[in-house]
Amino acid sequence: MSIIKELTASLKEIVNNAGYEVENLILQPSGRKDLGQFQINDAMPLAKKYGKAPRMIAEDIAKLLEQDNRFTNINIAGPGFINITLTDEYLSELMNKISEDLNTNIDKEQPKKIVLDYGGANVAKALHVGHLRSANIGEALKRLARLLGHEVLGDAHLGDYGRPLGLVVLELKHMYPELPYFDESYEGDYSEVELPITNADLEKIYPLASTKAKEDEAYLEEGREVTAKIQSYERGYYDLWKRVVEISKADIDKTYKELNVDFELWLGESDSAEYFEELIKIFEDKNIIVESEGAKIVEVIKEDDKAPMPPLLLVKSNGSVSYETTDLATILQRKKDYNPDEIWYCVDGRQDLHFEQVFRAARKAELVDENVVLDFIGFGTMNGKDGKPFKTRDGGVMTLKSLIELVNEETLKRINPETVPEEERAEVAKTVAIAALKYADLLPYRGTDYIFEVEKFADLEGKTGPYLLYSTIRMKSLLNKAKELKQEKIHTLKGETETEIALTILNLPIVLTRSLETKTLNDIAEYVYKLTSLYNKFYAENKVLVEENKELQESWLVLTKLVYDINNVLLDVLGLKVPEKM
Ligand code: ARG
Repeated sequence: MSIIKELTASLKEIVNNAGYEVENLILQPSGRKDLGQFQINDAMPLAKKYGKAPRMIAEDIAKLLEQDNRFTNINIAGPGFINITLTDEYLSELMNKISEDLNTNIDKEQPKKIVLDYGGANVAKALHVGHLRSANIGEALKRLARLLGHEVLGDAHLGDYGRPLGLVVLELKHMYPELPYFDESYEGDYSEVELPITNADLEKIYPLASTKAKEDEAYLEEGREVTAKIQSYERGYYDLWKRVVEISKADIDKTYKELNVDFELWLGESDSAEYFEELIKIFEDKNIIVESEGAKIVEVIKEDDKAPMPPLLLVKSNGSVSYETTDLATILQRKKDYNPDEIWYCVDGRQDLHFEQVFRAARKAELVDENVVLDFIGFGTMNGKDGKPFKTRDGGVMTLKSLIELVNEETLKRINPETVPEEERAEVAKTVAIAALKYADLLPYRGTDYIFEVEKFADLEGKTGPYLLYSTIRMKSLLNKAKELKQEKIHTLKGETETEIALTILNLPIVLTRSLETKTLNDIAEYVYKLTSLYNKFYAENKVLVEENKELQESWLVLTKLVYDINNVLLDVLGLKVPEKM
């Protein structure tokens, strides 16, 4: 149990000892630090319960608090708000505990097994800005859940099924008809075939094939046939499709790695195909399929629905499956392979209807136990200054690579040439660029849209990734310079800013628990900024290295180390890497 929770429990006991039963005591950080560090507001509800004036109850409680040497400056404000302050000795002791073991400042949860579906890249298509958010938010939620004790498997859930891939293979057939993949008499090993294409080629081939299919009915028909061949594992076509997936996946992985995003599982929509039959049978056995003009649909509407809820299309009239079907079949696959307690989907908020249909159908068919949580974690879009999803200057889709490049140009200008040697500068600029981009993406509440503003994101001042990195590096450098000095414990935290830092640290577990509960990261992003800027204020106010009072100096150094350690944990949760210098 975290220190703040222990403290709350112990205050609850004090209230009980004063003769009042409280269920949930709330220790509220006070908005008026002149009155006290914390407020206890329970006298008012207790007044109702015990039929007594709240002020009297507050006085009874305050009497006991005064006898407790952990607290000081106990006073009652207004109708019965009890203000309390932790003594310097006690607060220092708590900080020493935390600096010995950061786990005393985290509330671990009952461990659950979670499959987290995020990333969602599409094979043979360039990653675009929309994919940034899923990768970024999903990765941070994964790290947060792990920090709080859960077991999380991240799955990239590649878009590797259906017609787009068929069209890519078809276009390859038109470009390279001589390839053995299209030669029925070929008996050799396909893995030895030289394939003259790169990922960059693939990214051009898909748009080309897709335009052709729109304009040319015969081409589209051929595309359908090729898709069917791939999906029935036909030799040659299926093997070429696999190669295309490999090439594309390697490139996608490279970009994700740059973003500090890493998946345990690289399954795709196509991996659900082996469950289609079982899936459809379950729906059939439960009699919840409706035949409609040759298609199989599932009604998912509920009586109290206010918005329209179209039926889910399980099998199209031409026999092919839909995006919904692959997601339902994937639930079966995940259940069989991992048996998770929860499945989370970190996907663009515009897909909420799709997931609502999928979840409802999954419940209706009882694909998973009713207490297995299926949760859609939607997010808004990154927009341009015009308020529409961010595009290139000529209105095209902004790829993720060019977006990173844009930020990179900006951070490169800001790397200090005196501290970072020429040959390291590009690398450092990249690390800072990724941090700038990621932090700006995690700072707003995930559900809202935000505007891409490169100068703002890359700024060394203000609420930005670069500011956090720069400040954290400075903490480290202070600690390095103080290596020879004693750094064992905090003796005092008397200064106003130091106290504020300590109180902020005490509040960390609340922020972490709440963030995981709401599956949001904005509070953590705000928190790390608050802690860092408080620390910088302290740093500006004090000359740590030349301080003559040795106990004070030691306290400051241990506090610095504590803030530094917490920053590292939190920046790691957010997926930001701290360079050695910048
Ligand atoms: N590939 C999809 C897209 O780009 C996202 C996949 C999200 N995950 C899922 N299980 N449907 O839109």
